[in-house]
Amino acid sequence: MKNILVIGSTGQIGSELTMELRKRYGNGHVIAGYIMGAEPKGELKESGPSEIANVTDRQSLELAVKKYNVDTIYNLAALLSVVAESRPSMAWKIGIDGLWNVLEVAREYKCAVFTPSSIGSFGMDTPHVMTPQDTIQRPRTMYGITKVTTELLSDYYFLKYGVDTRAVRFPGIISNVTPPGGGTTDYAVDIYYSAVRRQKFVCPIKPGTLMDMMYMPDALNAAISLMEADPARLIHRNAFNITAMSFAPETIYDEIKKHVPDFEMVYEVDPLKQSIADSWPDCMDDSCARREWDWKPTYDLASMTVDMLDKLSKKLKVE
Ligand code: SER
Repeated sequence: MKNILVIGSTGQIGSELTMELRKRYGNGHVIAGYIMGAEPKGELKESGPSEIANVTDRQSLELAVKKYNVDTIYNLAALLSVVAESRPSMAWKIGIDGLWNVLEVAREYKCAVFTPSSIGSFGMDTPHVMTPQDTIQRPRTMYGITKVTTELLSDYYFLKYGVDTRAVRFPGIISNVTPPGGGTTDYAVDIYYSAVRRQKFVCPIKPGTLMDMMYMPDALNAAISLMEADPARLIHRNAFNITAMSFAPETIYDEIKKHVPDFEMVYEVDPLKQSIADSWPDCMDDSCARREWDWKPTYDLASMTVDMLDKLSKKLKVE
């Protein structure tokens, strides 16, 4: 990877991935792609180049790739699961028509492409415990449908045109820089903000609902390590199961309570979020990623909680 375009650089993952890539490859080699209305600000803007890169406008992608001689694209443009249910055609337009544009530009300019899939690519018929790498994928959400299609289309471009496409199935990503928007796993981020603000947390997910999760530093490392992996070792490509932990709301609450003893949580279940969560794995088997490119997370629930509370306390200026 020499010149890298991050599409969606101001989003939850993109904002931190762009900075991490700049640290590793040099500020001038990582272009923060953005759309009008979501321009980079602050450090993201100051530390390196930025350029309009709208997946629904193929020409904008082509211009950015040509201008910076891009050889690797991280395509993070997507609507998350809950918002995709309220705007299914937009989710398809960004997730799939947009991906088509990215892959076509990648084919023409010989770029490698990372387009994440998700735990959302599974459905009710998928085995929920130790969900295998290769298994039934029949999601009923538009988010899931776009993610399965992403996997298939990315593999198609690799097999048919030799485009170097690789991806992971991200679990819920927990972070303290840019909040996620409109996902089912967002509660596991919001709960930390409530704890640090000493507010009662209203949990939209039922107790006992297990979902895979991961702390942002591990998610960034996964994406970059996979793109750096020796292609000769990759049996799979789009997309690898990866996980760092699996917990239910009461477990994360108990962990936070160890540090914030008077923290309170009540349940007000959101039926849409609950039905989506119920259709996703309880915990995935990520042994293929461990075997094929040495995937290994560093944070568990306890160490992530310490770091989240510390970073958010500083960010929100609460002692
Ligand atoms: N975090 C995503 C969501 O909840 C799942 O990959 O929509």
